[in-house]
Amino acid sequence: MAASSVAPIVGLSGRPASLPCSVFARPDRNDLAAPATDTIARAVAVPIEIALPGQTKVDALAVPVAQPLGGEGARIVDEKLGGRLAKLAESGELRGDRGEALLLHSNGDLDAPRLVAVGLGKREHVDADALRTAGAAAAQALSRVGGTLGWLLDESLPVSLPEQARALVEGTIIGGYSPGRWKTQDADKQPRAIERIVLGHFDTQELREAADQAALLAERTNRARDLANMPPNELNPSTLAEHAQVLADEHEHLTAEILGPAEMNELGMGALAAVGRGSRNEPRLVVLRYEPPQATGSELVLGLVGKAITFDAGGISLKPAGRMEDMKGDMAGGAGTLHGIGAIAALQLPVRAIAVLAAAENLPGGDAFRPGDILRAANGKTIEIINTDAEGRLVLADALWYARREGATHVLDLATLTGAMELALGDLYAGFFANDDEWRDRVAAAGERSGDLLWPFPMHERYRRYVDSTFADMKNGSTLRQGSPVLAAKFLEEFAGEGPWAHVDMAGPGFLERSRGDYYRVPGGTGYGVRLIAELARGLV
Ligand code: BES
Ligand code: MN
Ligand code: ZN
Repeated sequence: MAASSVAPIVGLSGRPASLPCSVFARPDRNDLAAPATDTIARAVAVPIEIALPGQTKVDALAVPVAQPLGGEGARIVDEKLGGRLAKLAESGELRGDRGEALLLHSNGDLDAPRLVAVGLGKREHVDADALRTAGAAAAQALSRVGGTLGWLLDESLPVSLPEQARALVEGTIIGGYSPGRWKTQDADKQPRAIERIVLGHFDTQELREAADQAALLAERTNRARDLANMPPNELNPSTLAEHAQVLADEHEHLTAEILGPAEMNELGMGALAAVGRGSRNEPRLVVLRYEPPQATGSELVLGLVGKAITFDAGGISLKPAGRMEDMKGDMAGGAGTLHGIGAIAALQLPVRAIAVLAAAENLPGGDAFRPGDILRAANGKTIEIINTDAEGRLVLADALWYARREGATHVLDLATLTGAMELALGDLYAGFFANDDEWRDRVAAAGERSGDLLWPFPMHERYRRYVDSTFADMKNGSTLRQGSPVLAAKFLEEFAGEGPWAHVDMAGPGFLERSRGDYYRVPGGTGYGVRLIAELARGLV
């Protein structure tokens, strides 16, 4: 995409952003030859059809199987197959274990050429996660075929039909994601994604809405994964800003504004600017505003703030080499907020929202900030640098302030902030902190409903003293080898301004080292936050 095609940039307030030089990509000798911006921007949700079984041609029919075996759908299919499923169950080849998938050719006995029997585990324990995992197992089993997948829903499961539809669709699309976009192998060796999903039921508005929204959210989740998986020689603060602009162009009521170092200096954003100084890829503050034509509860403005460190080497406090490559995923919070607000816009939710991404690359260099430096953040507070690898809280400090300045009343920040949170909760739950009970409950409930799980942590006043500095208002690290996620939250609290705020430390579930064994089957970005944000916003309507 040519940088010239995106100017001029005008904020919601109508004032043109002063952009002295291009805030978009400069050629970098480390850039990949062909940036993938276009392919990602053009991705569209998998189409969903709702039709009674047999009414539409599918390449494969999937039937969920719970234990003990014998759900309605499985029984009908087994009858048509002359008892082949029952025989496979007898021999122990079909057990209905959660995540199991068995692929059969139907040899003309069904309308579909193939059948996938996917396990759900114990019937009484079947929940949305079991169905998402089944969706992913089916997508995996069919990854050499792709095409149209038909799902049989099962009225006898302890999950409502719209919830089944939603979870199966989400699982199929998220589970079919392939991270190997940079492989040059033959196209026919690349895994094939499911291109269309047919839900075997008569059409109801409830089912249709659930399925369509799930397809949209799953596709946005996969877009966020694409961003997190992009190598840091392709995704840097300015190319991330381009993605934001492309997203804004896709949606009528979504606008983008990009600030560079000159604007940051004008605003006094000494913390974000300092983190970006070690790299020749300059920092960016990426601002997306969603202004729906009819906003309900018009005084509420949802503020979404994302940590978008496109690569975190640690800076002068350099990280050890082991798995440093995963630090390309240190912008996963930013990716979640970007596609989270994109999802809000695509769903046309009547909630005003602003997303602020603090984008920078944390490298050591001749102009890099150092331990001992004292920075002044945009809210006027001074910060003594103890460790340049605690850069996330610095960039968030200025982004949180900016979100409030632009009118955010209820703030949620997403950040891959501390290794200790990953140690504590692993790759499944994010930990989160909040300064307001009602907001904490809303965020937790949205997490539970969306599948982006999170768990509350305490923010007691007595933790605050551990971020006291001898020389400045606070310090960005401590020698105390305890409670680092909490201290990071106490630090951020100083910049969160007035009003409800929640901070999500998603270091664990944001970027996976390995398959999670559920519907996240591959390492890399998860798109954590997209579904959470959409669900949270839906609850505010
Ligand atoms: N991006 C890292 C945190 C991280 C670690 C995320 C592992 C995902 C996986 C963050 O910037 C960082 O380096 N945090 C330090 C803070 C410390 C220096 C106070 C950490 O947690 O070690
Ligand atoms: Mn760091
Ligand atoms: Zn980091």
